[in-house]
Amino acid sequence: MVLWRTDVGGAAFYTASIVDLTERRNAAQEIERQREALRQSEKLNAMGSLLAGVAHELNNPLAIVMGRATLLESKCDDSALRADAQRIREAAERCGRIVRTFLDMARQKPVQRRNVQVNDMVRGAVELLQYNLRTGGIDVELRLADALPEVLADPDQIGQVLLNLLVNAQQALSTTPRPRRVLIETGLESQRESRAPRVWLRVADNGPGISEEHRAHVFTSFFTTKSAGGGTGLGLSVSRSVIREHGGDLLLEGHGPLGGASFRMSIPLSAAPPAPEPVALPDAVDAPLSRVLVVDDEPELASLMRDILEAAQFEVAHAETGAVALELLGEARFDAIVSDLRMPDMDGAALWREVRERHPLLLRRMVFVTGDTLSPAAAEFLRETGCAALEKPFAPADLVARVRALLPAGV
Ligand SMILES: Nc1ncnc2c1ncn2[C@@H]1O[C@H](COP(=O)(O)OP(=O)(O)OP(=O)(O)O)[C@@H](O)[C@H]1O
Ligand SMILES: [Mg+2]
Repeated sequence: MVLWRTDVGGAAFYTASIVDLTERRNAAQEIERQREALRQSEKLNAMGSLLAGVAHELNNPLAIVMGRATLLESKCDDSALRADAQRIREAAERCGRIVRTFLDMARQKPVQRRNVQVNDMVRGAVELLQYNLRTGGIDVELRLADALPEVLADPDQIGQVLLNLLVNAQQALSTTPRPRRVLIETGLESQRESRAPRVWLRVADNGPGISEEHRAHVFTSFFTTKSAGGGTGLGLSVSRSVIREHGGDLLLEGHGPLGGASFRMSIPLSAAPPAPEPVALPDAVDAPLSRVLVVDDEPELASLMRDILEAAQFEVAHAETGAVALELLGEARFDAIVSDLRMPDMDGAALWREVRERHPLLLRRMVFVTGDTLSPAAAEFLRETGCAALEKPFAPADLVARVRALLPAGV
């Protein structure tokens, strides 16, 4: 407010001017809030890449724990010891799945749609959040439809949407007295004339739900009811645009089956037939063969692969570098090569090029062990060459199956 005085002919006049600043102040506050939200989201982004690096590094030790536990299990005569080894293996396998789901999501790559099973994505997301859900005292019930057709989708993006919905439910339930419940349902939409068939998925909780006044805003960017630092208000708006890009939709349902909030998404089915089972590569060498060269700079991992393959009746030699591998290949006959993709001197791709020059018959007999899900270069190499790949951490049976698939039947 501004007040001023004017004297005219001995009389004093006062003039007041009032400007209502509420709107301006609110706008400034809103800008500050959105800036804070962006800062928060950038911080999370940075932490995400850091965590992805850590998860990636966990792959080697995890592969060793998984592989050794499996070998131990097969060597134990004592059933109690065998059961212990089995528990270690199962726990390591679970860690492996968690790391893989995480890396799959953290990977920055162009949108890649393929035929995917929604039920598998649900299981992956729940597994990833299992610790938080359990410590939050939340029971998750899965009612997943049998024989659900696949949808055409980018599994990373859909996985992200599922995580957003589950984290929202978990946060909403943190103030709810027990029992705290989340229900995830899937099913096939009945055919409608107006549109292609879709798979639907519901995430419902028995939390406080969403009030009438907030219902219209939950999909708006930066709308959040969480305290500063608690939420950026981007989860649902990003999720909805992702699902819409897939030709589907994400909705807030009127009445949740558990009394709290309930979100329902639907995604169109994939029109393409299911991907064919991988077929064995054509044989390039005639004789019955079983000698494998393992190339890996990490001795523990190499020795694990050797033990696994030897237990499966292969004869195994080990090279710590690509150069040593080439020397061995020059000296003896090998029937298959299992190589790490990322090695200090000569990496897997360089080894592949050398093998193409010097031992072309072995080219179709190479399988690459990779933990490098984050690197677009590695993915590009595997795609271009069509080489078989095995992602770390792997189960021993996967390694054996992958090597057998390279060899003529009966070996
Ligand atoms: N399951 C739920 N139960 C109750 N309220 C919910 C639920 N899911 C979402 N909401 C409401 O919708 C708002 C927006 O959700 P959204 O996921 O978009 O953002 P956020 O969770 O606040 O932040 P973030 O960007 O970290 O996800 C939440 O702040 C909350 O008020
Ligand atoms: Mg959220």
